[in-house]
This record gives sequence, C-alpha cells and structure tokens, in this order.
Amino acid sequence: MRLIFRPIKRTFFYAFLVSLFCLPALAATPSEAKIEQLLSKMTITEKIGQTNLRGRSSRATGPLPEALKQTVIDGKVGAFLNVMKPHERDELQRIAVEESRLGIPLLFGRDVIHGFKTIFPIPLGLAASWQPELAESGARVSAIEATELGVNWTFAPMMDIARDPRWGRIAESFGEDPVLTSIFSVAMVKGFQTDDLSNPTAMAATAKHLVGYGAVEGGRDYNTSLIPEGELRDVYLKPFKAAADAGVASMMTSFNEINGVPATGNKLILKDVLRGEWQYDGMVVSDWDSVIEMIAHGFAADKKHAALRAADAGLDMEMTSDTYELYLEEIIAEGKLDIKQLDDLVRNVLRLKYRLNLFESPHRREVKESSILSAEHRQKAKEAALQSAILLKNNNSLPMPKKGTVALIGPLAHAAHEQMGTWVFDGRAKNNITVLDALQQELGNENVIFAEGLAYSRVMNHDGFTAAIAAAKKADRIVFVGGEEAILSGEAHSRADISLPGSQEALIKELAKLNKPLILVIMAGRPITMGNIIDYVDAVLFNFHPGTMAGPAISDLLLGKVSPSGRLPVTWPKSGAQAPIYYNHKNTGRPANDKDFVGINDIPVQAWQSSLGNDSHYLDLGFRPAYPFGYGLTYSQFSYADLKLDQSQIKIGGSIKASAIIKNTGKREASEVVQFYIQDVVGDVTRPVRELKNWQKITLKPGESRTVTFELQTDELSFHNIAMQEVVEAGDFNLWIAPNADSGLKGHFELIE
Ligand code: GLC
Repeated sequence: MRLIFRPIKRTFFYAFLVSLFCLPALAATPSEAKIEQLLSKMTITEKIGQTNLRGRSSRATGPLPEALKQTVIDGKVGAFLNVMKPHERDELQRIAVEESRLGIPLLFGRDVIHGFKTIFPIPLGLAASWQPELAESGARVSAIEATELGVNWTFAPMMDIARDPRWGRIAESFGEDPVLTSIFSVAMVKGFQTDDLSNPTAMAATAKHLVGYGAVEGGRDYNTSLIPEGELRDVYLKPFKAAADAGVASMMTSFNEINGVPATGNKLILKDVLRGEWQYDGMVVSDWDSVIEMIAHGFAADKKHAALRAADAGLDMEMTSDTYELYLEEIIAEGKLDIKQLDDLVRNVLRLKYRLNLFESPHRREVKESSILSAEHRQKAKEAALQSAILLKNNNSLPMPKKGTVALIGPLAHAAHEQMGTWVFDGRAKNNITVLDALQQELGNENVIFAEGLAYSRVMNHDGFTAAIAAAKKADRIVFVGGEEAILSGEAHSRADISLPGSQEALIKELAKLNKPLILVIMAGRPITMGNIIDYVDAVLFNFHPGTMAGPAISDLLLGKVSPSGRLPVTWPKSGAQAPIYYNHKNTGRPANDKDFVGINDIPVQAWQSSLGNDSHYLDLGFRPAYPFGYGLTYSQFSYADLKLDQSQIKIGGSIKASAIIKNTGKREASEVVQFYIQDVVGDVTRPVRELKNWQKITLKPGESRTVTFELQTDELSFHNIAMQEVVEAGDFNLWIAPNADSGLKGHFELIE
C-alpha cells in the first residue's frame, strides 16, 4: 500500500493542464498586501457588509428603492444577484464605487447555467456528448453574452454527482460518474473564467452545490444525504477538488445536510477539507437562504445561532438571508466569534473582487457590437445539441428519407420554451428554432403535417388524439416529439414516476396502430422510463432538453446529415423504483446474475421458503437497467478487438498502457465513444465493480479501423481506506476497453509494491 497525498491524477490531468492556464490568473492576482491594506481600513459594519449577497427580483419594477441605495452607500452589501437592468446595475456600482466610504465594488451574480441568451443543452445533455470542449465552448459563449449585460459572477457549473433520476436537479448535473463530472466541470470553469479572470468577458464561476446534494434520499429535493466519508471523498468531492485545482473562483454550499450536519455549517467540508487539505483560497457563498434553513434542519436554534454556525464553519457570504447583517457584530462582541474569523471571510470576498479586477474596472466592459445570439453562438449551440443526442433504439427507421411526408406529432414538436429545459432565466422562446420549424425548412411545409396531440406534456385528456391520428394517416411516417416540459425537472421538481407525463403513452400506442414507421424523439431533464411503449416504436432519439437550436439539430439527426453520437452519462432505469441506480456500484455478497435470476412469474405456486434465485435483484424488474451508463447507438456499427496491455504487472508509481482496435463495420461515417474502465478486485474497503478512468470519442469512416490506446497512472487507482487515508493498494485489477459500462474487452493486470 502506498499513501497518496493529493496526487495529480492522470484522469484529472486535464484539470491540472487547465489549472496551468488558470493558476497564473489566480497567482497573478494582486498581492495579499492590497487586501490587508483595505481590510485594515474597514469598520466592522463594512466588513460584515462584504459578506452580504442581496437578492433583487429580475422582475422588479419601478426605480431602485432609496433604502437599497443607502445600504450600498453605507457599505452594507457586497454583492447582488438578479440585478439585470443595466441602468440599475450601473447605478448600484457607481454608488458603491463613488459614494461609499471605501469604494469597494459590487459583485453581480446570475444563474447562467447552460446559456445566457443563446441556450445550450442542459448540463446532463452536454455530458451526453462526452466532449468537454463543447461544454467549455458553451460556457465561453454564455460568459461573453452575460458579461455584456454586466454579470460578473455565475452560479455554475453544478457538479453534484447524481445517481437518482427522480431528482429534478439531475438535469443540471453531468451525471453519475466522478471522472466525467470532473472533466466537464473543469471545462466549464475554463469557459466561464478563461485563464484570466480580469478579462472583461470572464465571469467568476461557482462550483456547486458543496456537497452531496445529489445523494438526497429518495431523489426528493432538499432531503437528507447520508454519505460515508470514504464515498464522500472518492465520489462526491472529486469534481470539487478538480474544480479547485483548476482555479474555480467560488463555491456554493448545498441545501442538504451531510450525515447530520448541513453543508452551510459544515466544518469538516468548509474548513478541514476545503481550506485545510485543499488550501482553497476562493470564496464560499451559501445557497438561497440556506443559512436560515439550518433552523428548520434543527442545527440552529434561531437566526443568531445560524449566523454563528455558518460563520464559525467558514461560510464567506450569505445569500439572501440577513443573519450576518443582523447578528455577526453582536456575536463577535459576545466573544463567540473572533474578529479574525470575520476578517478571513472578508479576505476571500475581497480576493475575488481583486481577481475580477473590479477595483480598476468596476463596470468591466464597453460593448461596441453585441454578440448575443450571433450566428456563431447559434452554431456552437447547434453543435452541442447535435453531439448530445442519444440513439437508444433503431429498427432501421432512421435516418429518415427526405422524400415523402412526415406527420409531426407531440407536445414538444413545436414548444420553443420547453426545449430550453430547466434553469433558464434570460433565454427567450422567440429566439429558438423548434423541430417543426426545422423540418418544414428542410422538407417543405407541404411535407410536414403537424398536430401536437397534447397542448403540453402533462395533458391527461385525449382531446387532441383525433387530429393527431388524422394527420398521421395522411403521412408516410410519424415522428412523435414528446417528453417533459422544462418545469418538470430542475430545482424542487423531483418525480416519483419518471415515465412520459400526461397521455403521451396512450397517444403513442394509438399511432402505432397505423403500422407506419413511428419514431420517438424525447426531450427531457432526466432519463424517461419507456417500458410501456418501447415495443410500439421503431426508433428512439433522446435529447436532454437541447436548447435554442433543438430543431435544426434534431432535424439533421433524423435526416441523417449527422449520425447520433451521444452516450448516456447516467444509467437508464426500467423504472424509477430501481433508483438510486448507477454503474459504479459495489458487488455485494450476492451479486445479481442472469444464471440465478428467477422472475416473479417463474416462481412455482406454493414454493417453499427457498433461496430460489436469492441474490440482489427485484423479482419483478430483475437487476439490469434499461440501458447502461455509456450506452448509445449510431447509424453505423463498431467492433472492438485485439485488446493489448504493454505489461501484465506494474509497480505502484508506474503506469500501464492498454489498447484495442476499433473498427467501423457499418456503411456510414460515425463516432464512437471508446471507454476505459478498471476494477480494483480486492480492497481495504470494497471497491466498485467498474470505474471509468478515461475515454476517447473517435470518428471513423465505413471500414476504417483505429488502435485506441489508454495510459493509466497507478495514482489514478487511489481510494480512501478504512483509516480514511488516500492509498493505492497492490493486488489484482481488471480493465475494460468498452462501448459502455456493461460490456467490452476485458483484461487483467497485477499491481505490485
Ligand atoms: C437556488 C439554487 C442555486 C442557485 C441559487 C441562486 O435555490 O439552489 O443553484 O444558484 O438559488 O439562484
């Protein structure tokens, strides 16, 4: 066994590379002396003022309230969120800089999650592309557009590991895998921040929600998270560590408690890990009212106690609630909090403002020519939507021929608002191109017969069925575009039943009776279970809410201009009842397997109390998901052959190379996501049955072969043992080069001291 101390893991090499770009920006930030100099001049009221993030509804009407302006003059506010009227923002910043005693500029925060005006696929969709560069590109476009309107701080990327599709915020995540999530998170941080935060088009990014929010019990938002510390460190904290190494400017605490301690008052996370082990020097902000929510959690008796528990844990800035403003001075006067602790909070806030160069350039940028919704931005959004679509089934009904007529049916076929997905505040439906718009453009209006069938996804009645069936009867083929409205995923929107809402399934079954090619296109914020309808359709093209350019992307995919290349960033269950469900699970003492499994209807009547098929499965659903992590089809086929390892035994500290020959055996050019997994067979604690360590997305012409090689450094095999030490242990390892988490070419190597 070898102890590892904060290794630079191969898999996080990307993060390390990025941090080489980011760190100069952070290292080049003004010396700490400037911060100390300013701090020394500040009154306790002004210090507390810097820890206050005030909300303002972007729907607020009328002039800025005089009282609000006065709080800025008095130095009682450090930042605003949702101030979106440029004249308001300019006025508040002018007042802060010119009329307050010390002229400390303000931060202006906004949730710019997957686009600002040009909307990209939701983060789960971006992850489905397995192309982090597309996430970086989307973040860059978002930052250019948002900084044009004065936003200098975004509350993104969200990097919660999500293993439960009932949880509405799985939509904002990059899925269930810590490596995929880490690499996508770092890509977005770079896109938002560039390698120089003082760049006027750069926005401070926020790694959120620290931590374990995706592990809420039952997939029910805001619920309790119980996570053993080893799992916390090896799974849930990994993306935050990668983001911290890449120079993310801030972090946000989550609403949930972790093992009895709310994240917003959690010293283990905020002090021991973040500041102690990681030496992180960015700023930590609470989530909306999460400080006062510690009262409801039963972790604070009242607002004053909540202020103490948050400040004592090291929370730098309080979002929207006002406990710091009301009680910190009193708490310090009572000796319950040391003024030095307050100074530490304020230092982190000031450091961020210096890094953004706000003292020199509080308004940051004069925009000569707007690039909002430019053709270039739209093209980048389309590319992301194209690459994130996942083909789940295809009985050769895709790609569609251009000739003939199409009946376009379904509640999301022409739903410009819904296709943007969750967490969109500044995107507008009028800027979006729907599937109907695009298909009419491609095929001619006369060849596309549209009938929505349901006015929106939750409609339960069958009032629109007649018109939809009539339209389908006139056409050569049927494309049903269904799924979830945007509001059915995202914050506070968990669903227990994750099948198609409303009467969509009923309409699909009616359309299937016409015996015409029936293609199902789904837009949703989570995997949608399709057990009731999968046999009724000929193809399924799945898109996690694709954004502004959903129409052109889906049209190109349906018509075969581009072959689908997305792969699942989450395991796809047969039923929400299987959740939480994820590929990198433990093996258990009785691992489910096909050989032993006895289905509920195969158990003999009056069977005696036997161990019949007695291992880890459900009698009615079995144990497999509908589709495994990493799964996705294309318009071609690929073969995997000739797995080779450069050695079968490696020493700790060394590396191993594995390769395989991938061939496009089909008739069309297509892309394949070649995935590299390992398994640590025996550990000081049990280890997952598989762990993704890397991947390569390659495009091959028909008949073309390519040798794909992965190099694994042994420190990528580290985990936390029973003693909570990060270790690499000698022993047996399996590895796979695979198309998904449930198959592939399997090899073996031994790791020795
Ligand atoms: C919300 C979300 C958080 C968001 C914040 C500001 O409640 O949990 O992700 O950034 O409030 O809108």
